[in-house]
Formats: sequence, structure tokens, C-alpha cells
Amino acid sequence: MSSFLSSSIGKKLIMSLSGIFLVVFVLVHLILNSFLLFDSTGELFNAGAHFMSLPVIRFGLQPVLFGGFIIHIIYAITLTLQNMKARPQKYAVQNLSNSSTWSSRNMFVLGGLVLVFLAMHLMHFFIKMQITGEVPTTMLNGEEVHNGAKLVKDLFTTGTLGLVYTCLYVLGAILLGLHLSHGFWSAFQSIGFSNNIWRKRLEKVSYFYAFFIAAGFTIIPLYLHFFAK
Ligand code: HEM
Repeated sequence: MSSFLSSSIGKKLIMSLSGIFLVVFVLVHLILNSFLLFDSTGELFNAGAHFMSLPVIRFGLQPVLFGGFIIHIIYAITLTLQNMKARPQKYAVQNLSNSSTWSSRNMFVLGGLVLVFLAMHLMHFFIKMQITGEVPTTMLNGEEVHNGAKLVKDLFTTGTLGLVYTCLYVLGAILLGLHLSHGFWSAFQSIGFSNNIWRKRLEKVSYFYAFFIAAGFTIIPLYLHFFAK
């Protein structure tokens, strides 16, 4: 078993499974964040965030989520290094553009940039809401809860920095979309959906999913910056 997990195929499989897990997380995260678009009072978003901070989720699911990220990153680095060792020189004639997409050739760089975005993003919200507690509060059904909706709105609307963060979040969404456009179908291909029919279907689903995620995470900061009161 351990020799399988340390083989290239085993590593690719683990990366794919952790990637699929993150694909599901990103979709759930977008759905929760979209509450900010549909309810300007922020109550719906705060109720969702409050639910996600219940001990069963916080101590049960969050470690799994961060574990998923760490495994995905560690395996991405080891597989990339392994591939570089196996093929130290780039092909003499580079005409890969017909058979592969730009995203597929730049997955490592795109993933790295998404990670930089994620580090900044966690400092904006997660650290404040879950660790330092530097977050305004509000009443929800007679209970005092974190006002995460205000924290998010303030980030995108306060002064010149509000515009800077809006642009950075739009950029982060585009980078994530590009990373997912290849990662989604590549992960499914690695777990066995590799015949011609499935490959074409998955490519379409993959582009649709990546576009949906990028568009969703783009609209939220833009809406909050330009239209939220
Ligand atoms: C419009 C864009 C986004 C907004 C408004 C947003 C909002 C938030 C908020 C408020 C939290 C803290 C939740 C809490 O601790 O209760 C959070 C956490 C988190 N976000 Fe985002 N997010 C956005 C985009 C993203 C993207 C694109 C990713 C993935 C690359 C991401 C990944 C995470 C992760 C991993 C956490 C920590 C786990 C969690 O608390 O659920 N977020 N986000």
C-alpha cells in the first residue's frame, strides 16, 4: 500500500481525490457567500457563517478541509519536482499549444498564485472570525453572533483599499477559475473517467464549473464595492 501511495500513479490519485474534495468545498463556499448578494441585511450570510462555526463543523470538518489543502499542495510540489527530474529539458520544438491548454501547462504556477490569494484571504476573514475574534457582532434570533457580513462589506467598500481588495479578489477568482478549468477534468481523468466520450463530457462540465466559480467569486466583491449600501 505504502509503495503504491509513493508511486507516481498513487501520488496522482491522492492529488486528484484531494482536488475533488476542494472542488466541492469551493462550490459550497460560493453558495454561502452568494447570500451576501440576495440579502442586503447580511442576516442570511451571518446565519450561514454561524452554522459553519458550530463546534461539530469547526472541529470536525475544518481540520479535514485544511488537511485536504495541505495534502493537495504537498503532492503538487512532489509531483512537479518528479516530472522536472524525469524531463529536465524542455522539448526542443515546443508546439504543445494544439494538444494542451495554457492552464494545463501552468497548473503549478496558477496553484501557487491561488495559494498566495488564499493566505491573504484567510487573514482578512478566517483569522479574525475564528482565531482573534476581531469582528463586529450582531443579534441573530436573540443570540449575539459574529457580523461576518459587515466584515466582508467593509473590506470591499472602505476607502481606496476597498477598490484594491475588490481588484485582488477578482484576480484571485480568475486565477482559481483557470486552475479549476484544467484541474477538475484532470482529477476525474486520473480516477478513471478517461475514455473519449467521458473526456469530452468532463471537459465541458469542467469549463462550465470553472466559469461558474470564477464568475460567482468575481460578482460578489464587484457587487459589494459598487452597489452595496
Ligand atoms: C468573494 C470572495 C470570497 C468571500 C467574500 C469569502 C468569504 C469568506 C469568509 C467570511 C470566511 C470566514 C468564514 C468563517 O470563518 O466563519 C472565509 C473562509 C475561507 N475561505 Fe473564503 N471567501 C471568498 C473567496 C474564497 C475563495 C476563492 C477561496 C478558495 C480559493 C476561499 C477559501 C476559503 C477558505 C479555505 C476559508 C477557511 C475555511 C472556512 O472558514 O470555511 N474563499 N471566506
